[in-house]
Amino acid sequence: MTTTVTIRDFRPDDGEALSALVVRCLREVNSRDYPAELIDRMCDHFSPDRFRRLGRERRVYVAERDGRVVGTVSRDGNKVYTMFVDPDAHGGGIGRRLMRHVENLARAEGHEFMETGASITGHGFYQRIGYQDVRVSDTEFGINHILRRQLRS
Ligand SMILES: CC(C)(COP(=O)(O)OP(=O)(O)OC[C@H]1O[C@@H](n2cnc3c(N)ncnc32)[C@H](O)[C@@H]1OP(=O)(O)O)[C@@H](O)C(=O)NCCC(=O)NCCS
Repeated sequence: MTTTVTIRDFRPDDGEALSALVVRCLREVNSRDYPAELIDRMCDHFSPDRFRRLGRERRVYVAERDGRVVGTVSRDGNKVYTMFVDPDAHGGGIGRRLMRHVENLARAEGHEFMETGASITGHGFYQRIGYQDVRVSDTEFGINHILRRQLRS
């Protein structure tokens, strides 16, 4: 049995699997940092249709292991969005792989830095993989830590 993780572009038939993955993350992990009412709103927001729309508006990427969806991230140029990894796979390096994937693509397009907006839950992850705090902003889902990582030395 192979345990290789591959990263590929989003396909419209990923909508259901990505929505289910994000809802699991929100309910099992992010719910430690956010009130139930906000988690419910986020779960409604990340519907299968929402992902199909995102697939047309941004570049969405999917991590797969043994044919199963285990993570996702999206980007618009050098801006990162919707980073989620299957809770059963947390700490296994998939989040870092997804970020290096989008960073390599942005670097090849000539961007100087990558920028992300982190939830309270994701903040430590980005710091751990080399991102530095820039500012804090307000969103419909609470505060967001804006962080950047230089893509060129
Ligand atoms: C945040 C998340 C995407 C990280 O994905 P992951 O696959 O578990 O991360 P990795 O295994 O690649 O972790 C890379 C490093 O960051 C560390 N790390 C992971 N999550 C962390 C966190 N929340 N806080 C601090 N460090 C963290 C890992 O221990 C690892 O450290 P190492 O360098 O010692 O190996 C994942 O935990 C997740 O989906 N969380 C719930 C959804 C969420 O909050 N998404 C972010 C929205 S902004």
